[in-house]
Amino acid sequence: MSAALEKRIEALREKIRHHEHRYYVLDAPEITDAEFDKLMNELKKLEAEHPELVTPDSPTQRVGGKPREGFVKVRHSSPMLSLDNAYSEEELRDWERRVHELSGRSDVEYMCELKLDGMSLALHYSGGQLVRGITRGDGSEGEDVTSNVRTVRSIPLSIGKDKLKKAGIPAEFEVRGEMLMPLAAFRRMNEEREKQGLSQFANPRNATAGTVRQLEPSITAQRRMDFFGYMLLKDGHTYFDRQSKAMDVLEAAGFKVNPNRKFAKSLEEVWAFIQSWEAKRDSLPYEIDGIVVKVDRTALQQELGFTGKAPRWAIAYKYAARGAVTQIEDILVQVGRTGKLTPVAALKPVPIGGTTVSRATLHNMDEIERLGVKIGDWVEVERGGDVIPKVVQVVDDKEHPRGHKNFHMPEHCPVCSGNVVRTEGEVDHRCVNANCPAKLQGTILHFASRHVMDIDGLGEALVNQLTERGLVKNVADLYRLTKDDLLKLERMGDKSAQNVLAEIEASKKLPLERVIYGLGIRFVGERTAQFLAEHFGSLDAVMKVGAEELEEVNEVGPRIAESIVEFFADEHNRQLVSDLRKAGLTFTGQKKQKGTKLAGKTFVLTGTLVRHTRDEAKKMIEDAGGRVSGSVSKKTDYVVAGSDAGSKLDKARELGVSVIGEKELEELAVS
Ligand code: IVH
Repeated sequence: MSAALEKRIEALREKIRHHEHRYYVLDAPEITDAEFDKLMNELKKLEAEHPELVTPDSPTQRVGGKPREGFVKVRHSSPMLSLDNAYSEEELRDWERRVHELSGRSDVEYMCELKLDGMSLALHYSGGQLVRGITRGDGSEGEDVTSNVRTVRSIPLSIGKDKLKKAGIPAEFEVRGEMLMPLAAFRRMNEEREKQGLSQFANPRNATAGTVRQLEPSITAQRRMDFFGYMLLKDGHTYFDRQSKAMDVLEAAGFKVNPNRKFAKSLEEVWAFIQSWEAKRDSLPYEIDGIVVKVDRTALQQELGFTGKAPRWAIAYKYAARGAVTQIEDILVQVGRTGKLTPVAALKPVPIGGTTVSRATLHNMDEIERLGVKIGDWVEVERGGDVIPKVVQVVDDKEHPRGHKNFHMPEHCPVCSGNVVRTEGEVDHRCVNANCPAKLQGTILHFASRHVMDIDGLGEALVNQLTERGLVKNVADLYRLTKDDLLKLERMGDKSAQNVLAEIEASKKLPLERVIYGLGIRFVGERTAQFLAEHFGSLDAVMKVGAEELEEVNEVGPRIAESIVEFFADEHNRQLVSDLRKAGLTFTGQKKQKGTKLAGKTFVLTGTLVRHTRDEAKKMIEDAGGRVSGSVSKKTDYVVAGSDAGSKLDKARELGVSVIGEKELEELAVS
């Protein structure tokens, strides 16, 4: 191995780490995305050619973990505590009084930090390498979620020895902080889930908890999580003499530390900070639910100690939830693209955090039963960052008597009168009429939306008019619209009509993956559409293959494969595709170039692989033109066996199929 090559690889890694830090931690990139991709691609290529040089801290190794069956429980170095809360200035002053009394001093200094609304995590570093990420769990014991933690780009996988030394951080240390899902990522994820007919996460905190405990690291990676550090420990103890110092040091070492913090010399300054953030919190790209006030000096913290589960040296000032009490005047039912019926509370309009709220989602029948909501009830309604308002609980007191009218899910669709069914084991009720106009409207809105065919100007009002007048019966009809058609509609002038038509025309040039995504196949989201386009290179190819071949595509399992086959088996859908083809949409794309070394060869992977994750091994085989199958048969050419291989290995031996190890696979697949 040439030393020059190793040097080049290390130089690329250093550069990439530097630019990841600029982009994900400091939010101040120095190079374009394309330039960054170029560096990453060069590194990936070199590592693929020399797999023996891949190290776990390489920036290419963020998504390396294989799907897990569960998480291992791990004890914390010292308990991960929670905080006592204060809900008013008075309660905050009470806390300060106790601090003064217990410490016998009145010149206490404080560190004020945002109370980030996510989930706390402990990260362990050894020799500068991230070795473990653990959830809080019950405070004494959490779960090892290292492979998920590694996918969070603002968490450094390694920190250079010089940097540690300069920052004064010991070789073995622990960083505790908050993992969270930024609002933009949360909105996008819920939009995507809605489109796929999946249930929504109620708020970013729940979404974070769900994502941290994802068994599939590649899903965590897609969800664009973030992490802010706020504690630096050594052997379970605070390492620096001040909290403010620890924050600065963490920042200098390359961790993302929240810049909105303040060292305060008095409670007056603390209070001013709290008040200033109450108004500003809506402008943050993530949610906070208060301000954490910590005694700054570590020595004083130790003197003050703990009560039960919380330190006496810190307190969380909680902002009032942006909520209000109002009355449910009615419960309406909305029908979505997948036919899902969503109960929505029609509220007596009430102002919450600057906007008037008159609707709140009740999600589904289970939620209505859980809340015990009746029409006429007074309820507490809450609104998060910009999440859809939701009903939190029923209020029942003298001024707010209970309502009497029970809500029932209609047996017939409120839009088309079609039958409504609730499949066993599912929470949602659905309209089963394939021609339900609500489904049609939802389908067209999905098709026109920004991440799909990006037809600007084709919003709800226009889509409703187009479908109600029968001008558009499916998405292909959009491409037959004329200016005369549009001019007949309300609020449609010459200029707008022209713009809409130009937008529709422009959408024909969008790539194949958008068209696949736009078809609205259940479970086929943006990413899956991309993988399908790359794998097959044309829509015709996707339509032709069976479930088994579909499952060879990255991240496509039996459920998605089945849904795709079902979609294209339907006569109406085939007609739709044919109409879209006639309209001139993009039906072919760039098939990802593959080698031919293993063309026609079938592999089965079994046991625990150590040099590669399953996904990597699969990719290596596919990139060389081979395919990976789930079960061993006479047609299998090779079984790649890791440790603890079981029945598949026995079967291979029985059938006389060649059994190879990971190293041999590399030799076969990589030239
Ligand atoms: S300090 C003993 N600082 O709030 C110290 N916690 O209610 C405890 N949190 O479990 C943690 N932002 O998940 C601290 N700047 C911050 C925080 C913060 C959010 C969360 C953390 C903790 C919970 C306690």
